[in-house]
Amino acid sequence: MRKGILTIAAVGLLTTGGLTACGDDSGDKAASTKTPKIGVILPDSKSSARWETADRRFLEEAFKAANVKYDIQNAQNDKTAFQTIADQMITGGVTALMIVNLDSGTGKAVLDKAKSQGVATIDYDRLTLGGSAQYYVSFDNETVGKLQGEGLSKCLTEKGAKNPVVAYLNGSPTDNNATLFKAGYDSVLKPKFDSKEYVKGPEDAVPAWDNAQAATIFEQQLTKANGKIDGVLAANDGLGNAAISILKKNKLNGKVPVTGQDASTEGLQNILAGDQCMTVYKAVREEAKAASDLAIALAKGEKKDTGQTVKDGDRDVPSVLLTPKAIYKDTVKDVIADGYVTKEEVCTAAYAKLCADAGIS
Ligand code: BGC
Repeated sequence: MRKGILTIAAVGLLTTGGLTACGDDSGDKAASTKTPKIGVILPDSKSSARWETADRRFLEEAFKAANVKYDIQNAQNDKTAFQTIADQMITGGVTALMIVNLDSGTGKAVLDKAKSQGVATIDYDRLTLGGSAQYYVSFDNETVGKLQGEGLSKCLTEKGAKNPVVAYLNGSPTDNNATLFKAGYDSVLKPKFDSKEYVKGPEDAVPAWDNAQAATIFEQQLTKANGKIDGVLAANDGLGNAAISILKKNKLNGKVPVTGQDASTEGLQNILAGDQCMTVYKAVREEAKAASDLAIALAKGEKKDTGQTVKDGDRDVPSVLLTPKAIYKDTVKDVIADGYVTKEEVCTAAYAKLCADAGIS
């Protein structure tokens, strides 16, 4: 997927050193006179808390700091609404459009339309396959999956599990990130299935990352496996929490490690309670800042060299891929220290003692 080999250090540099302006100019003289106005379409507010609690907040922070106009809207998992919002933003004069697609087909239609109207485009967090975005800003999503696979393996070892049955709750089949996450955790777990160290249990993708549906799916998985599931690779905290709710019903929570992603308040609380093994923290503030910097540059008719590309078919998409981090009980405090969630949000009365035990002061 990624072209060329970039070291973590190089990716780190990108995040701190910012983006360098590329000498050649796009020839788009008109763009250089435009006052930046950035449109952002978020996907929904249920598949993960992050979109409203982190992305909106940090995008606003970045746009305000740069003193640019912006319009951030949420399509609430409605593809028709997504297109309507895009049309309104284009008519309303945005100079750059940043989207988190609901699927590649509808994402592509929006990107192509924007492009035809001279609006700069960025794929934010999710790559639109076959799309036309000028930049892609995300995390190294295969590494996200790898951290989940390694995390589950670590927690299974700590529990002394012998030939554990591992179930998969994958993300949405229409989200390219879900494919990358799975490639990452498969790279860790498949060799263990092949060597019979682990046993592959039920596997399902959760449409649109629907957390409620995930609970139903996991309940069916547990029934199908006659109650014998020893570890759950859940692709994000919402899916993980759905599995935990069913494990609780069966008095299995805390015994069966469950993974996650997004370092949501709920996910962090589940980790503190011992019901969730780990989560993957993605510093959305950096993602929002990188995307904002690119959108502003595009509006000014500048081209930035991101130093990295991602392959989409034959196309090399200039990309910024940030580095994710695994979080366990002893590092929940790092997410709080980074300002992603507050101590007050995580350490409510029911979690106060657990917070103190985990060194959150
Ligand atoms: C994002 C995850 C998120 C999921 C569900 C993915 O594309 O990368 O952070 O949990 O979508 O919204």
